[in-house]
Amino acid sequence: MALSTMKANQLVFKQALNFKSASYSRSIAITSYRPQSNYSAVHDYSPAKEKSRPVVSFYNQSAIDVAAKKPSVRLTPATLLYTGKSPDGNHLLRSAQYLHKELPVRVAHRIAEFRGLPFIVGCNPTILHVHELYIRAFHLLSEFPSIRDMDTERQYCKMVKTLLDDHKDVVTHLAEGFRECRKHITDESLIHNFLDRILTSRLGIRMLAEHHLFLHQDKNDSIGIIATKMSLKKVIEKWVSFAREQCELRFGYAPSVKINGHTGATFPYIIQPLDYMLPELLKNAMRATIESHLDTPMNLPDVVITIASNEVDFIIRISDRGGGIPHSLLKKVFQYHFTTANDDESVSDNGGALGTMIEAVNQPTAGPLCGFGFGLPVSKAYAEYLGGSISLETMQGIGTDVYLRLRHIDGKQESFRI
Ligand SMILES: Nc1ncnc2c1ncn2[C@@H]1O[C@H](COP(=O)(O)OP(=O)(O)OP(=O)(O)O)[C@@H](O)[C@H]1O
Ligand SMILES: [Mg+2]
Repeated sequence: MALSTMKANQLVFKQALNFKSASYSRSIAITSYRPQSNYSAVHDYSPAKEKSRPVVSFYNQSAIDVAAKKPSVRLTPATLLYTGKSPDGNHLLRSAQYLHKELPVRVAHRIAEFRGLPFIVGCNPTILHVHELYIRAFHLLSEFPSIRDMDTERQYCKMVKTLLDDHKDVVTHLAEGFRECRKHITDESLIHNFLDRILTSRLGIRMLAEHHLFLHQDKNDSIGIIATKMSLKKVIEKWVSFAREQCELRFGYAPSVKINGHTGATFPYIIQPLDYMLPELLKNAMRATIESHLDTPMNLPDVVITIASNEVDFIIRISDRGGGIPHSLLKKVFQYHFTTANDDESVSDNGGALGTMIEAVNQPTAGPLCGFGFGLPVSKAYAEYLGGSISLETMQGIGTDVYLRLRHIDGKQESFRI
């Protein structure tokens, strides 16, 4: 290894330790972990107790190594949809038993990927923090006792809920962490592939976990996370209102939106990923529309949304007259961290920018219009994970059409696996 690289690594490691006292104590704590053979701490799950528990060492983690070698068992949405409900709650036990086996494997796969990151990246305090969150989650999930009765199942739900909450800012942390250490990485695909995999895997884990939690609710129009008669138009309208509010907050006005095509279409689908992708695509279209018509704010062209639903998939086209994407930028817009937002536009330092993104799955919040350069790449990764795609057609000088295509999940055609 070149001396300069070694020096750089030592410096980064020092920085990692000095980043802030919390990181420092974490780094110390991770070397002093002793595996717990007693499950009672998990069984009496208390978030406060868990938070004070030391985080595991990065080395000699045979349990993680073993789990990381196991394949993940991915389910089709149709399996989730058609798995029957039994009055005695047996379906809840079976679902919890599946998660109990599956989640540690998925989390271990991610930990293996963190370990494969270049040293200089893995030492970034923000990325290290997420790595540790995954290690902590692995131990909680893998040490939980077998689920054979409803009492244990309830404890398991409590733990899963807390973990979902503990991990809710992971996307923001990853965006910040990778932005901080980008300058050290020459291979763009390394960041891109890592983020694609961790974000889609996170989406899958959250969908499975939420599906189980939602199975406890008795609703006519949903089974777990699957809305059995989702009105696509209604979901779009919800996010149109949200994106318009964001524009009103930032600019004082917003473009109108027209929705046409198969506006009456209803079908079973999982709303959560739409709750991430739609606001991102709409915010982009509205921002472009406003920024390309700053001289005529009272005469904004509409954003037009067309819905098509067929046997195989459904398509949402969002057409704006926001001036299009210049030739020189077209190749970059799907790159993580690429943004044309000015520093004063982006509110990246208050952590809110991504609050509107993945976190919108659980808690739509009033976030800013643009900032991290994550909207398009994450939406594309999600769409592809769901067996679909996002593509752009842009007319430089006029506007952009974004096509979001997603496969139906009714089991009639081949779909995707979560
Ligand atoms: N409909 C559009 N018209 C014109 N430019 C667009 C459009 N959609 C995206 N872009 C360009 O692509 C860039 C990247 O978009 P992306 O959504 O990934 O990030 P962002 O909007 O800048 O920040 P955020 O992370 O908040 O979404 C934007 O900054 C903008 O320059
Ligand atoms: Mg955006």
